[in-house]
Amino acid sequence: MHPMLNIAVKAARRAGQIIARASLDLDQIKVGVKQKSDFVTGVDEAAEAAILDLVREVYPTHAILAEETGANTVTGAEYQWIIDPLDGTTNFIHGFPQYAVSIAIAHKGVLTHAVVFDPNRNELFTATRGAGAYLNDKRIRVSKRAKLEEALIGTGFPYRSFDHADAYLAIFKEITRRTAGVRRPGAASLDLAWLACGRIDGFWEFGLSPWDMAAGALLIQEAGGLVSDLAGEGDYLASGNIVAGAPKIFAQLLQIIQPHCTPSLAR
Ligand code: IPD
Ligand code: CA
Ligand code: CA
Repeated sequence: MHPMLNIAVKAARRAGQIIARASLDLDQIKVGVKQKSDFVTGVDEAAEAAILDLVREVYPTHAILAEETGANTVTGAEYQWIIDPLDGTTNFIHGFPQYAVSIAIAHKGVLTHAVVFDPNRNELFTATRGAGAYLNDKRIRVSKRAKLEEALIGTGFPYRSFDHADAYLAIFKEITRRTAGVRRPGAASLDLAWLACGRIDGFWEFGLSPWDMAAGALLIQEAGGLVSDLAGEGDYLASGNIVAGAPKIFAQLLQIIQPHCTPSLAR
């Protein structure tokens, strides 16, 4: 394993341990509200602090973009860590066991290493550009499914901003009608990791943040899948909108989604 990925794994496991311990006594958890339907707990903060401590100790010259503490730019930094210490906070608060730690490392703007760690199942998803994607120690690949009517599709519902709710619902209706089913597990990083290992065949969501997607996107690419923005291009981290899938399913999803995209929802 590449040394940098190794540190990312160590950091993700430390955060996972904090999260797992806290999940045993949910009544103790103090919940703050950042904005409507956007919650933060002391556990998000403690998990992020544990990750940042390790990263700063080992790689003091690297830049960091982390959900709870924001961007820490280091002039001239070639590497950037993109961190969601607890993806799926709403699930976590409710004891709904679907959440993860997500860490990606970009080199000169290119996603290079990825870790998504699921503390509930002790599943560690990792990838390094050009070296494949793994679940624990096993190589993973996206599903071979090609027929849309047999595909299981993941998504995230709009719940904070409803600006694009009509377009979303029109897409939802068509995808529900034309596929084997749609799931909304509630932690985008894990949804993407599950796509990488073939548990779902496609995924789409609007309005995500880079830390929700960065690690999962590299996992999918290294597992032989495709990831894009709504224009079918590579700007998903910046636009917040993502479509992903096993190659044949991806193309069909994009074809359904694109006609519903208004100019304000173009990328
Ligand atoms: C959220 C989850 C969820 C997605 C939201 C994200 P958080 O992350 O990934 O699946 O639908 O848009 O904000 O806030 O729990 O880290
Ligand atoms: Ca998140
Ligand atoms: Ca989070």
